[in-house]
Amino acid sequence: MKKTVTTFAKAKASGEKLTMLTAYDYSTAKLMDEAGVDSILVGDSLGNVVLGYEDTVSVTMEDMIHHGAAVARGAKEALVVIDMPFMSYQTSVYDAVVNAGRLMKEGRANAVKLEGGVEVAPQIKAITQAGIPVCAHIGLTPQSINAFGGFKVQGKTEAAAQKLIDDALVVQDAGAFAVVLECVPEKLATLVTEKLDIPTIGIGAGNGCDGQVLVYADMLGMFSDFTPKFVKRFAETGAMMKQGFEQYIKEVKEGTYPSAEHTYAIADDVIEKLY
Ligand code: KIV
Ligand code: NA
Repeated sequence: MKKTVTTFAKAKASGEKLTMLTAYDYSTAKLMDEAGVDSILVGDSLGNVVLGYEDTVSVTMEDMIHHGAAVARGAKEALVVIDMPFMSYQTSVYDAVVNAGRLMKEGRANAVKLEGGVEVAPQIKAITQAGIPVCAHIGLTPQSINAFGGFKVQGKTEAAAQKLIDDALVVQDAGAFAVVLECVPEKLATLVTEKLDIPTIGIGAGNGCDGQVLVYADMLGMFSDFTPKFVKRFAETGAMMKQGFEQYIKEVKEGTYPSAEHTYAIADDVIEKLY
């Protein structure tokens, strides 16, 4: 059965942990969906993982729609959340609603995610009122990397921790159905989780959140440009892929692939007449 925002609300009430992973293509989304993940995030980490950018700033609406629609075709049960890219919602409430609508209509999202707290509360409210579920994202918000001056843990001082709590309450009031907490000390993330009625989805935010999210290429050991402390490698898929590529190259070079079992035959009397 297709998971919905109601699944998220029920999980918060029952204490069942929510699982979310990123994906950017049909085949990966299908595998994840079959594995039983609750939600697939088409993150703008697409920029790093798939497109090879150093940050998420260059990712466009067209990128998100193109990859989002592919993921949506592979996700039978998982709730598909598509990230709103940098400058698709910061510019105005109008832009935010129009672009969220495009991610739903063209990207076939079930929900959208955007970064920020009190500054984007009007956007969250307007998108929600248009009938589009919004997942908020606070703490470390990578689209603001140029303002942050680097990837750092957020909310460590009393003032910064209070701002995080305030942001969490504001995005909840604005109508968000869930909130991602990125790179926040565990005890602060746990406190925010206790204060909220909507589920918190942590990444680098410890074990007290209502759910967890990871970039799939990180947790499969496929992406090694940088590895934050919170990433656990659940498989060494990158090493397996490299081994497979090396074996293919070896067998083609030495002429052992393709062998008879991977080859189509023609009757000898037919081919002989053509010589
Ligand atoms: O883009 C992304 O992958 C994300 C997650 C890290 C939450 O926003
Ligand atoms: Na993102």
